Amino acid sequence: MERLHKYIARCGIASRRRAEELIREGKVTVNHKPVTRMGVLLDPDKDLVHVKGKRVIAKRELCYFLLYKPAGVVSTCDDPQGRKTVLDCLPGKERLFPVGRLDYLTEGLLLLTNDGGLANRLTHPGYAVPKTYLVEAGGFLSGEKIERFRKGIRLEDGMTKPAKVKTVHAGAEASRFFLTITEGRNRQVRRMCEALGLPVIYLCRTRMGFLTLKGLSPGEYRRLEPAEVARLKRSTQEYHSVPTQ
Ligand code: URA
Repeated sequence: MERLHKYIARCGIASRRRAEELIREGKVTVNHKPVTRMGVLLDPDKDLVHVKGKRVIAKRELCYFLLYKPAGVVSTCDDPQGRKTVLDCLPGKERLFPVGRLDYLTEGLLLLTNDGGLANRLTHPGYAVPKTYLVEAGGFLSGEKIERFRKGIRLEDGMTKPAKVKTVHAGAEASRFFLTITEGRNRQVRRMCEALGLPVIYLCRTRMGFLTLKGLSPGEYRRLEPAEVARLKRSTQEYHSVPTQ
């Protein structure tokens, strides 16, 4: 909810003071009803504001959040089963949506924004931003399996693109490694690992392009810095301006 005079000022047609005058002068309607009282609250997403008979609309402030999604949270905006969603992890109830998805049990880096254009560009199938996952899986990560990750693995929806592997620990019973992929297919990491007999025990996305989880714990979030937003925009613009075949 927002005060009417602040909303009018945000529309860029008057200062807050002038907006108060316009209200007092009876030149403002909310939902087609004149409002002359000060301090009236409105819902910018629902209420219609007219000044001197002309509809005024404030620009939505674009927000960009980086969330360390904890396990046990769905990446959708609402869940028919009533489970906790990623929006429950963020302040307020701004109309944000996640950029891509992480499974219910997967932790890690998730961007949320109300900038639909950027979100669409970032999730375009051809926009190959590298995403790194820390994987803990049952079984031994042999050199042969690493080679298979690197060459591509046949899944039911086709071959995967070459992935990078960095081993942290390869034990007889379980292994720990970083896997970097450039695609975003459904449950891709889990399916790639399963195809090699490495059932995933724990999965966390630690990096997406130049963004990392540095400084955050599960459930915490931060706003992206303006320079980070600019860099993200630049990277997608560079990709989307290259003609594809
Ligand atoms: N791959 C998966 O298997 N799950 C995720 O949540 C993300 C990538």
